[in-house]
Amino acid sequence: MKLDLSVATPLCPAPCPAISNLVKSDFRLSGIEVTSDAEKLSRIKLMMNHAVSIRNVERDDLPRIYEFQIDPESNRIAVTIPRSADGFSAHWENALRDPNVTAKAILIGDELVGCISCFKMDRLDSVGYWLGREFWGRGIASRALNLLLTEVSVRPLYARVATSNVASLRVLQKCGFVVEHVQLSPADDRYPECEEALLILR
Ligand SMILES: CC(C)(COP(=O)(O)OP(=O)(O)OC[C@H]1O[C@@H](n2cnc3c(N)ncnc32)[C@H](O)[C@@H]1OP(=O)(O)O)[C@@H](O)C(=O)NCCC(=O)NCCS
Repeated sequence: MKLDLSVATPLCPAPCPAISNLVKSDFRLSGIEVTSDAEKLSRIKLMMNHAVSIRNVERDDLPRIYEFQIDPESNRIAVTIPRSADGFSAHWENALRDPNVTAKAILIGDELVGCISCFKMDRLDSVGYWLGREFWGRGIASRALNLLLTEVSVRPLYARVATSNVASLRVLQKCGFVVEHVQLSPADDRYPECEEALLILR
């Protein structure tokens, strides 16, 4: 079945963040081990009093970003295959050296909660982003993308998203991206076969 994404897609309300599904050992904030779900929630609520900001990714951020990118549920939603530890290191070594890549850490206060990048994909200037699962559903990705768009002036900008990834589609559409076309994308080492939308910001 093909989705018609040529018009604004009506979306359901955001689900509550899946706090209760978090693996306890996954969760560290500001170096403090937080053990109960209630503690996690109140810690995140406190964090959300701080503004979302972005800054260049630093090498010290990479272990946390690696944790975010191997999370199985995030990969299921994004329809991606996580990089191995070696693949991840090689990817980021290249990205941090490549003048054509803008790689930003997403912060709440001084807490690293995800990353957002602008890079060339198939010769198109493209954006991608990824948040730690515990931070979903709070408007952080939309805010981070708006911030990136004020720093990166190149247009058009593109994004490729699995059509099943409604949260990501919504983030892009809220920031002015529109669906250019939808296609069946073949599997490769980073992506299972999926229906994928190419979005454009002119
Ligand atoms: C996609 C992702 C970045 C979204 O981050 P986020 O901070 O939760 O996004 P936001 O809160 O800014 O916005 C999400 C929007 O999608 C909506 N949404 C979220 N889940 C939804 C769902 N299951 N169905 C419909 N809408 C949904 C929210 O309501 C919100 O829209 P609104 O502001 O109009 O209410 C995050 O889920 C993530 O990191 N996922 C894993 C990696 C990934 O998918 N990266 C993108 C690859 S293209």
